[in-house]
Amino acid sequence: MYPIKDVVDLNDEVVRMVVEAPAISKKVKPGQFIMLRIDEQGERIPLTVNDANPEQGTITLVFQKVGATTRQMGMMTAGQSIRDVAGPLGKPTDFSGAHHVCVIGGGLGTAIAYPQAKWLHDHHIPVDVITGFRTEDLIILADEVSQVCDTSIVMTDDGSNGHKGLVTAALQERIDAGAAYDLVVAVGPLIMMKFVAKTTAPYHIKTLVSMNPLMIDGTGMCGGCRVRVGDHYLHACIDGPDFDGHQVDFDEAMRRSTQYRSFERQAEDHRCRLLDQLETVGEGR
Ligand SMILES: Cc1cc2nc3c(=O)[nH]c(=O)nc-3n(C[C@H](O)[C@H](O)[C@H](O)COP(=O)(O)OP(=O)(O)OC[C@H]3O[C@@H](n4cnc5c(N)ncnc54)[C@H](O)[C@@H]3O)c2cc1C
Ligand code: FES
Repeated sequence: MYPIKDVVDLNDEVVRMVVEAPAISKKVKPGQFIMLRIDEQGERIPLTVNDANPEQGTITLVFQKVGATTRQMGMMTAGQSIRDVAGPLGKPTDFSGAHHVCVIGGGLGTAIAYPQAKWLHDHHIPVDVITGFRTEDLIILADEVSQVCDTSIVMTDDGSNGHKGLVTAALQERIDAGAAYDLVVAVGPLIMMKFVAKTTAPYHIKTLVSMNPLMIDGTGMCGGCRVRVGDHYLHACIDGPDFDGHQVDFDEAMRRSTQYRSFERQAEDHRCRLLDQLETVGEGR
């Protein structure tokens, strides 16, 4: 069992949860993730380790309540426990040869990109962070991000925070202004990562994107997380989740990401009725 130490709502959709997991907290590196199961009946879901504190033996997860499992997790409180947490899984982000990096996070991707920026900052490698959100109310981790980078630019689609536009516009502006990036790391919606890669391609800037296909076992056995990268199919769980953004077939990844939507809706309907009953008997938060 993995005890929950703290739970904070970052906004209406996103929750930060600190979980006791001493072995993982000592080993995890930026870019790696865990697979968890809330209880014995629960499905396994992958979540990136947003932060780790080896002294306290804890890891921090930041998740968006999108479906059955994440909604159920969003109702859990400190003092409860998660049944299984396996990890760290996946390959750490490869920062080799990087001297000036731009880390880009779209929405929830900001939480997933945070450890990369922190690692670079801790290792004295100059790093700018560009984050993008639909609107001001959805901005997360602004203070945390600004403490682990040289420049933090927060964009909103509607300009409600004063910086209107997409992350790609901010990236293009930085490049035009002479920022000599030799690595761009992008984490967010597939469409965002596709256009970040298109922006950096003419400048031949190495671009890593973090792919988040549906995962079932997280061990390379089921093939569910296949991503087409150049001429090969690779597994996001063991070969990734980071891949060369100039080689990823984003259009295929977008098609595959909606493949199981009707099954997920059925699972959600099923769990939601269960959650309603739990709330009625007072076990909800
Ligand atoms: C390596 C990796 C790291 C991840 N890290 C995080 C993280 O740190 N925080 C976080 O909130 N989420 C993260 N995700 C996505 C997370 O795993 C899914 O949101 C979660 O599995 C959804 O489970 P659910 O039962 O709540 O929703 P489901 O009922 O399974 O799905 C609900 C909706 O979410 C969509 N969805 C499901 N899985 C994914 C996915 N992998 N990517 C995008 N949309 C998905 C579905 O298409 C559906 O529309 C990560 C995914 C991967 C592969
Ligand atoms: S999740 Fe099964 S092979 Fe990657």
